[in-house]
Amino acid sequence: MKHLIFSVVLLFCLSCKKEEIPTCQDETSLYSLADYPIGVAIDFMAFEYDSIYKQKATAQFNSFTPENIFKADYLHPEENYFDWSAADSLVDFCIAYNKRLHGHTLIWHQQIPSWIENFQGDELAWELMMKTHIQTIVTHFKGKVTAWDVVNEAFEEDGTLRNSIWREKIGDDYIQKAFQYAHEADPDALLFYNDYNLESNNKKRKAVLEFFTNMHDSGVQIDGIGMQTHIDVCSARSKEIVEAFGDVVEANYLLHISELDIAINPKGKKINNKQDSFHDQAILLGEIVKGYNNLPPALQYGITFWGVSDTQSWIRTYYNREDYPLLYDDNYQVKPCYCILKKHLPL
Ligand code: G3I
Repeated sequence: MKHLIFSVVLLFCLSCKKEEIPTCQDETSLYSLADYPIGVAIDFMAFEYDSIYKQKATAQFNSFTPENIFKADYLHPEENYFDWSAADSLVDFCIAYNKRLHGHTLIWHQQIPSWIENFQGDELAWELMMKTHIQTIVTHFKGKVTAWDVVNEAFEEDGTLRNSIWREKIGDDYIQKAFQYAHEADPDALLFYNDYNLESNNKKRKAVLEFFTNMHDSGVQIDGIGMQTHIDVCSARSKEIVEAFGDVVEANYLLHISELDIAINPKGKKINNKQDSFHDQAILLGEIVKGYNNLPPALQYGITFWGVSDTQSWIRTYYNREDYPLLYDDNYQVKPCYCILKKHLPL
């Protein structure tokens, strides 16, 4: 009997043995290993002034999402003035280097210039202002931006609509109006709704899918859902995340894992064993990629990482903490999560 128990325990322990993570180099582009785009958020200042950043971004990824320079406070800083300079420079690069360009984001409650915050006018005036904002930008980039995050983060965690300035001034239908205006300006552009916690908050995800399915059924174009996927090694459950992918594709939306990063220090504590955390980060990423690989190819819009290296991650700045959420370390060396991504990409 004792031998039986021992062998069962041994078998159990062997099955818990951590997955071996291969060491690797980045001599091959990540996007050449996938039959869907592998994207990255572009920090424009780093792209302009850090040659290694630019080299890694260009060599490894075939879809670019401007991290900030396509947002209202950059593109439309004054009511009658649009600053296209940085954006056009990135657009030209994407055309020259055959990078898909994902437009982020037209309507959001953050990074709004003060003239919008302080705009004086009735509902109709706000609607016209929003229409002008959207259609001037979408028209300017027509044919050069594959898809737009038309609206970003419009839902609360409980599934209700966020009381953003746009909702307050225009009403609940600001969302469908935003999608209509974008579609009118570039009928060929794919249109996305983008939000966080859709991979983990069932109530929010179901409310979002119901809202946009109703909008779509009323004749307003929406093509995809951006699931930001800002997760961490402590709280994320890969099975739950993959099930969330299923909900989106079952509703027949393109699924963009739009802002993927995997924090290893969500509580901002002292990190005792970085290598263990990097292992957990890699295993989690591997499970997510394997789940994404199994989705219908026609609905795989791609996986976009929210930054190139840990140095540029918004998480360090926003939370003011030590963290290492991305594929490259602070010296642009690949991390275990890069190697497991390379291992599990489908090609
Ligand atoms: O450009 C100015 C610079 O001139 C100034 O010197 C500096 C210091 O004040 O600030 C710079 O602007 C910062 C900008 O990033 C560019 O670095 C803003 O203060 C800062 O707030 C902004 O943070 C961005 C954040 O969105 C704004 O909410 C992050 O980089 C960006 O990664 C983050 O991305 C968002 C997505 O758009 C939507 N989903 C969530 C995600 C994370 O918050």
